[in-house]
Amino acid sequence: MTRRICIIGASGKLGQYMIEHALERGFEVTGVCREQSVHKLDRFADRITIVPGKTNDRDVIRQAVEGCDGVLTVLVPWGIQQYASGTAQAVLDFAEPGARLAFSCGWHISQDGQDVYSWGFRAMLRVFGFIARLTRFAELDDQVEACRRIFASDTRWTVVRGSDLEEGESQGLPVWSEHVGDPILASNKTRRIDFALFMVEALDNDDLIHVAPAICGCQTPSALAHAAP
Ligand SMILES: NC(=O)c1ccc[n+]([C@@H]2O[C@H](COP(=O)([O-])OP(=O)(O)OC[C@H]3O[C@@H](n4cnc5c(N)ncnc54)[C@H](OP(=O)(O)O)[C@@H]3O)[C@@H](O)[C@H]2O)c1
Repeated sequence: MTRRICIIGASGKLGQYMIEHALERGFEVTGVCREQSVHKLDRFADRITIVPGKTNDRDVIRQAVEGCDGVLTVLVPWGIQQYASGTAQAVLDFAEPGARLAFSCGWHISQDGQDVYSWGFRAMLRVFGFIARLTRFAELDDQVEACRRIFASDTRWTVVRGSDLEEGESQGLPVWSEHVGDPILASNKTRRIDFALFMVEALDNDDLIHVAPAICGCQTPSALAHAAP
C-alpha cells in the first residue's frame, strides 16, 4: 500500500532533501511551503501535491495533513510570529490519530536537561539569540516552546536534533545519542542530505517514538571512533 506523508517546510534545503528521500521510498508526498517559495519545488511539481501557505496557518496544516500516515516538520524560529510553536501546535492538533510525526530542530533543544554543551556552543547560542531578538530576525525561545509542547504530547513523535550542517553527498544514516555531550557526537557535523534521511527513516523506526535523538554524520571522526562495531 502506498503511504502518504506530509512535509511541512518543503521548499527549504532540508525539505527538498526529504522530498527526494520520500519519493525514492515510494511515498506519496504532500508538501507545504510559503506561497512565495512554491517555485522552488518546480522540479517536483508533477510528482507531489503542494499546499501553499504559512506553516503556522492552522487551516493550511489541517488540509495538508489529512489522510497522512506520517508528517515531517521543519521547525524554524524565523521572525517574531510564534512560527515554530504555531507550526508544531497545528501539526499536533490536526495530524491523523496514530500518524508518525518527526520534527527537526538543533542541538540546543533539550528534552530532559541532561545534555552537556561546550562553552563555545553556549556562547554562540547566547550571542545569536540576543542578536536575533534585537533585530526581530528570529525567536529561538519559540523553538524551545514548540518542542516543549511536542515533548508533552502523547502523539507518536520524534524530535530530531541536528548538529552543525554541511552540504555534500550522502554518507549514510547519521549516528545518534539521546544526549549532546556523548563523545560519539563530538565532531558536530552532519550532511544536510543525511539529516533528511534520518527524518524520513524515523517514520519507520518505532524505537525513536518519544525520543529526541541528537545526530552526527556517520563518517565523522567522532562517529568512527565511538560507533558500536
Ligand atoms: N542551519 C543549520 O546549521 C542547522 C543546524 C542544526 C539544526 N538545524 C535545523 O535544521 C532545520 C532546517 O534548517 P536548514 O538550515 O536546512 O534550513 P532550510 O531547510 O533551508 O529551511 C529553512 C526553512 O525556513 C523557511 N523560512 C525561511 N525564512 C522564513 C521566514 N521569514 N518565515 C518563515 N519561514 C521561513 C524556509 O521556507 P521558504 O523556502 O519558504 O523560505 C524553509 O522551509 C531546522 O529545523 C533547523 O532548526 C539547522
